This record gives sequence, structure tokens and C-alpha cells, in this order.
Amino acid sequence: MRILLLGSGGREHAFAWKLSQSLLCEALFIAPGNPGTAIHGINVSIGLHDFDKLRDFVLEQEIDMVVCGPEEPLVNGLQDYFANTASLRAVLFVGPSQEGAKLEGSKAYAKAFMEEQGVPTAAYREFGIDQMEEGLRYLDTCELPVVLKADGLAAGKGVLILDSIREAKAEFRAMLDGKFGQASETVVIEEFLSGIEFSVFVWTDGKDYKILPVAKDYKRIGEGDTGLNTGGMGSISHPPFVDEVMMKKVETRIVQPTIEGLQERGIDYRGIIFIGLISVDEEPFVIEYNCRMGDPETQSVLPRLKSDLVALCRATANGTLAEMDIEIDNRAAATVIVVAGGYPEAYEKGHPISGLEEVTGSLLFHAGTKATDAGVVTNGGRVLAVTSLSDNFRDALELSLENAAKIRFKDAYFRRDIGLIVVTT
Ligand code: AMP
Ligand code: GLY
Repeated sequence: MRILLLGSGGREHAFAWKLSQSLLCEALFIAPGNPGTAIHGINVSIGLHDFDKLRDFVLEQEIDMVVCGPEEPLVNGLQDYFANTASLRAVLFVGPSQEGAKLEGSKAYAKAFMEEQGVPTAAYREFGIDQMEEGLRYLDTCELPVVLKADGLAAGKGVLILDSIREAKAEFRAMLDGKFGQASETVVIEEFLSGIEFSVFVWTDGKDYKILPVAKDYKRIGEGDTGLNTGGMGSISHPPFVDEVMMKKVETRIVQPTIEGLQERGIDYRGIIFIGLISVDEEPFVIEYNCRMGDPETQSVLPRLKSDLVALCRATANGTLAEMDIEIDNRAAATVIVVAGGYPEAYEKGHPISGLEEVTGSLLFHAGTKATDAGVVTNGGRVLAVTSLSDNFRDALELSLENAAKIRFKDAYFRRDIGLIVVTT
């Protein structure tokens, strides 16, 4: 198959690495890609907002299948654009329709969906732009801490957890007043759940589903899980606290009613449902849905997938997932992210990176890097991911840390305690 992969992060490098191993992969293009994806295919500089350019490229290169890494094109209707363009109708597409992507693109939609399907989640109310006073009054009745969520996509910054009603009211006002632009024209006020978070990845063709290895990401910048939230400082698969009993609960109470909900609504969902979960006293609740794989969870999940990723993508897109067997590597995976100094606040770009060729025994995934005539330089906050596999989780982490330490650029930083500490909300 001739494949076009969309995206440019560490997640997409992991996808490109795995897709390119398949005998079914005849050609792999990545738009726009990064220096890591360029090892496994051909990067093409097309922006993901430019649907017409993507169409032209797909037709010109006779692409058989498009795999969408990030959520934004899906929320913006890229799958629908492909489905509604006659010349693209034969192209397989991995990623849900715009309606399906609302599970991530609108928190209010996702909460209503969960409520209707009986999927366990935190209690909530939603308030629109003309319900300021009602929302403020509702906040007076809330227990602390209280969670405020911008309804739409807000670059990962739209969730606020507040410890005082006064602060919560000020933030609520600011959100409805446009703090996150259109994204916070509706705000969800939600009960705070205390527990341990983990990530479940469900691939569905709209009828059947397959669950990939469970993972956990570590979001805070500092060791001991302290400091500001980031896009993710590392991940592990399989988190030891998620046992078979928990996975059974997740499957019957959450995965199945979610798939049924999509079917009942006639939603075209051929892609990934990433379920962000929290275990509260051993009971799973949904924190959020995403319509894509996680980053940096993908970097520890895909290395544990023994099955052919092209075959999995194809079966997801063409509705034959029931015929697919998923084989998993039982070893533990540990991913350590090397970030730029200052991240997640202001950080510098353009620093030369050395030591990449010294990395041995681990997988190295590029995220925020750029190829220049003078070599690879930093180009983002999360710069590289190092993933190792071992029978023993500690050995996997040790190897990732050893290799992360070989990567050198000005003010490089990584956490050494990924997977070693219990993180509760
Ligand atoms: P989200 O953008 O929905 O992933 O939310 C970001 C983070 O906020 C989650 O990963 C949780 O750590 C936290 N969070 C969101 N909702 C809740 C909740 N109801 N209770 C506790 N923590 C939450
Ligand atoms: N690691 C969380 C996410 O990808 O949203």
C-alpha cells in the first residue's frame, strides 16, 4: 500500500517507524513529518489545514491509505472531506468523521454522550455564553477542588482545577469572556475525581474493536510529579496498577457502551478512541475521550505491538477488524522525553543536538527537531523520546535513562522517575 501519514510529533515518528516495517508498506509519505519520520519515509511539506493540497497529493501519488496522527484535522472534518470527494472515495482513511471527533473536540458533547450511554464519569453541568449568572450561582454549590473545562480544543490548556470558589468564579468569568477564544464559549464545570490516571487505546472500525496495550503518561515537568503540566514527560506500558479485573471493568462499562453509542447515533468512526481514565478506589471513570493515539503514550504502546500496523490500520479503515488478531509483546516499555530547558514555559530553539548516534539498545523518536545543513537542531519543547523494552520495567527505564543522558543539547532536561512513583490527582 502507498500510505500518507499526517503529523509531525514523536507519536508520528513512532507510527512511521512501525508502518514502514510492514511488508504491506510499499511507500510511506509523512506530511509534514520531522527528521525522524524522514528515516522511514518521505516527508512532504503540506500543512494539515490545507485539505485541497492533501487531496492533490493523494491523487498524484496514488495513495491507498491516509493515517491521521493529530486530532485537529479530524475535528476540522478531514475525514468527511475525503468521504465527500468523489475522487478520494476509494482511499482508506484512519480517523473518525467530524461528528465522531466531537468526542474530543467538544467536552460538553462528550459528557452528554457518556451520560446517555451510562459511561462512568465525573458529575458535571455545562454553561453557555449567556449563562454566566447561572454558572456563578452553580459554582457556589460545588465542592472543592472544582474542575473547569473549556468546551473546545485549547491546545491542552483548557482544563483548570481550582481550590477556591472565588478563584473558580474569576476563571469561569474569564473563560466565558473568551480566555480561550471560541473554545471557552461553553464551559463544563465538573466534579473533581481523586485517583490514578491511565490511558486505554481502542481501535474501532465502527462495528468491532481491539484494545491496544494500556499506558500511563507523566505530565508534570518535575520529578516527584511536581511543577507545571507539560504535553508529557514520559510514559510506561503496562502500568502495574491496571490489572485484568480493572481492564474487564473498562471494557464492559466503558469501551462497549462507547462503541454502541457511536453505532446508535450512526456516527462513522473508523479510527482510534483514546480513553483517558482515572481509577477511583479501583473503579474506572472517564476523564476524557480523544480521537487519536496519545503522545507520549504511543512511543511505549506501538513498540509492544507485534502485529502489523499497516494491517491494523487497513482493517480499521475498511471494516474488517473482526478478522484481525492483535499480538502483544509482554515486555515492559519505558519512554523518557528529553525536553528543552524552560519548557513548558518559554524555551529556546535551534540548539545543535549531538550524541544521537551513541544511543544503543533503545528506540529513539524525534519530536521537536529540525534538520539543518549543520545537523539536527532543537525545534520544540519536547525534543526527543527514548523508549526501551525489557522483561523487567526497571531495566527498561534504566536503559532509556542511560541513552537519554547521551543526547546532548544546551539545557537538555529529562525526568528520571518515569513509572517509579505513584501519581494521584
Ligand atoms: P484533559 O485536558 O481533559 O486531559 O484534562 C487534563 C488533566 O486534568 C487530566 O489529565 C487530569 O489530570 C485533570 N482532570 C481533568 N478532569 C478531572 C477531574 N474531573 N478530576 C480530577 N482531575 C481531572
Ligand atoms: N498524553 C496525553 C495526550 O496525548 O493527550
